Amino acid sequence: MDLGEKNMYAAAGLLFVATIVFLKFASRYLAPNSSKRLPPTVSTFPLIGGLIRFMKGPIIMVREEYAKLGGVFTLNLLHLRITFFVGPEVSGHFFKAPESDLSQQEVYQFNVPTFGPGVVFDVDYSVRQEQFRFFTEALRVNKLRSYVDQMVLEAEDYFSKWGERGTVDLKYELEHLIILTASRCLLGCEVRDKLFDDVSALFHDLDNGMRPISVIFPYLPIPAHKKRDRARLRISEIFSTIIKSRKSSLNSEDDMLQCFIDAKYKNGRATTEGEITGLLIAALFAGQHTSSITSTWVGAYLLKYRQYLSTALDEQKRLMKKYGDKVDHDILSEMDVLYRCIKEALRLHPPLVILLRQSHSVFTVKTREGAEYEIPKGHIVATAPAFANRLPHIFKDPDSYDPDRYLPGREEDKAAGAFSYISFGGGRHGCLGEPFAYLQIKAIWSHLLRNFEFDLVSPFPDIDWNAMVVGVKGEVMVKYKRRKLLVEE
Ligand code: HEM
Repeated sequence: MDLGEKNMYAAAGLLFVATIVFLKFASRYLAPNSSKRLPPTVSTFPLIGGLIRFMKGPIIMVREEYAKLGGVFTLNLLHLRITFFVGPEVSGHFFKAPESDLSQQEVYQFNVPTFGPGVVFDVDYSVRQEQFRFFTEALRVNKLRSYVDQMVLEAEDYFSKWGERGTVDLKYELEHLIILTASRCLLGCEVRDKLFDDVSALFHDLDNGMRPISVIFPYLPIPAHKKRDRARLRISEIFSTIIKSRKSSLNSEDDMLQCFIDAKYKNGRATTEGEITGLLIAALFAGQHTSSITSTWVGAYLLKYRQYLSTALDEQKRLMKKYGDKVDHDILSEMDVLYRCIKEALRLHPPLVILLRQSHSVFTVKTREGAEYEIPKGHIVATAPAFANRLPHIFKDPDSYDPDRYLPGREEDKAAGAFSYISFGGGRHGCLGEPFAYLQIKAIWSHLLRNFEFDLVSPFPDIDWNAMVVGVKGEVMVKYKRRKLLVEE
């Protein structure tokens, strides 16, 4: 072997050793490290284990895994990677991230056959933002004032049909009243006064067409989906007629339908009949079950914890002394005790138990425990109000009903930052209907408190985890007796 050959072998040997060292370095510091920085994974049986855990109850799974894995962890559900962010320390990015990082469109696609084409999750973000502006405009204070007058009238009318005394299922009654009120304020007088039975039957079919299976296969040709599609078509026809007739008569009403008819995109384009119909359906889906479920929980809690009922009654007496029997937007806005009672029912029972986003870029989160994780592109990111609202490091005795936790001095909903209390979501996509929902529930409960005495005669209700919008399980039977709340001089 001559010197040149020796050098060549030495160089090759050196290259080999350098390659091994580099690969070792790369495998030690690059690849495993980045996989180490992925969130911990929920351990389940292979393939369908994640699905079984999820179907047994997502919130039970979140509770168990949070205790084991901390505030960020990934569930492998079939081909999906769902990464949960639990607690205000990590959910900030979930709520604040721009659409280009975390989007709603893909994960909420299952709403498209119900809401219809050309609206909300069927359009790209720039159009959706404009459509959400229409919602914001339709829910401004000046509009809310006139909706409140209609809410109050609906409540008075509805309960005037009750007898002197009796026993009713509060859940059924409040569901019914809220459909009537939503029809009046959102869908308009044509539906409320002339077409209520037809339209509410059609909405019932739309509602029934949204099943857990629809989230994964929204177009599966099952009978419930076929009925949904027929109902959706018929609703379009009905609204098309109503919109044409409003436009031609030049009548203008105080309802959300009118706001959507009058709405204009930035480029000056008017909304189409199809878009108006789709936006109204979306409003009804966002606001109807959520509000009726919450009104029922409020009743159940006030009747169980009479000390809060009595504080709420005192507040009504105070306001009656000041304003007589009058109830309007500003008077409802003074009902702070009732506000806290509603807020607390919603903390314990947020109807939207899991919120979702699709991740489009890699980002990092730091947990409360100090662990840093990298969230890959392609993961579904989830947060769970039903669990996060009960975290013991944020809410004292988190499972107990304690409306006073929001009083100045305690303010547990704010103590750990903006995303401590997330029944209405928050940040970029926070609920646009929150003030509407509070006003509606207050209008109902202030009327009930002023005009009836109640006793809960069925056991305190359980949670119906099987519903898409999680609500109250079974009946909530109450005995009522008509009375006029007396205001002491
Ligand atoms: C107690 C009643 C209600 C609850 C608990 C509730 C809850 C929520 C939550 C949690 C979100 C956020 C969803 C997410 O981040 O993925 C949301 C968004 C929304 N809500 Fe509500 N909601 C209620 C009533 C209403 C009402 C009455 C309306 C309209 C009339 C409404 C309209 C909306 C709209 C338009 C959005 C989408 C906002 C956006 O993405 O920018 N909600 N709601």
